[in-house]
Amino acid sequence: MHPLIRIAGVFTVSALWSSPAFATSTGITGQSGKDGMSCATCHKGGEPPTVEFEGPASLDPGATGQYTFIIRGGAAKTGGLDIAVDNTDATLQTVSTGMKKLGAELTHSAPQPFNAGELRFNFSLVAPATDVTLTIFGAGNSTNADLKSDGDRSSTTKLSVKVGKGTPVDVPNEEGPKESDGGCAAAGSAPVWGAMLAGLALLRRRQG
Ligand code: HEC
Repeated sequence: MHPLIRIAGVFTVSALWSSPAFATSTGITGQSGKDGMSCATCHKGGEPPTVEFEGPASLDPGATGQYTFIIRGGAAKTGGLDIAVDNTDATLQTVSTGMKKLGAELTHSAPQPFNAGELRFNFSLVAPATDVTLTIFGAGNSTNADLKSDGDRSSTTKLSVKVGKGTPVDVPNEEGPKESDGGCAAAGSAPVWGAMLAGLALLRRRQG
């Protein structure tokens, strides 16, 4: 099937599912914090949980890394998540049960119970075949299991992963920094530019 038709199909199906009340207890995307939005737009009233990623901060090109997203605190009865990556050549895959892939992102398939004060979701990331630095974004919602959006709260976090040598940074010469010929895919991403600029500053300092 043509990929566009498949995408249109996914949108139609999710639009039907989410009407009329924007039910998200069976999963939601676009709320990982990658595009500035998170579960906290709707889920209010609870204490914010702490959320973190565990897993390798560097991978070989094409390698598969195992990661865990952990939610602690907050209402801590049940919870859910949304994970996204800012690189279309990287692939996210579910490992834990209770998760599903929706579009390019990972989310819960139903509210998942906390266990001993925490909720863990295991997943994997297949790195792109080329050197690049990418970011994994995650939003974790700590919910009170009333199947409503109040009394809950989410937090977001992100993890930078260096694939191979990472996004190429040109070493500045006497004439000053050259125009970067790589990293076009990351051009729109402020954090990546920030990291690149920080890298340049470090290099300069080391040389001077
Ligand atoms: C557009 C508003 C909206 C957004 C954004 C949203 N939700 Fe929800 N969510 C709801 C509503 C409404 C309900 C109650 C209806 C239902 O069960 O889906 C709900 C219910 C839930 C429940 C069950 C809550 C409980 O106390 O039992 C979970 C878990 C959940 N959402 C996870 C998430 C996660 C994780 C995110 C962010 C990645 C998210 N939601 C983003 C509106 C939203």
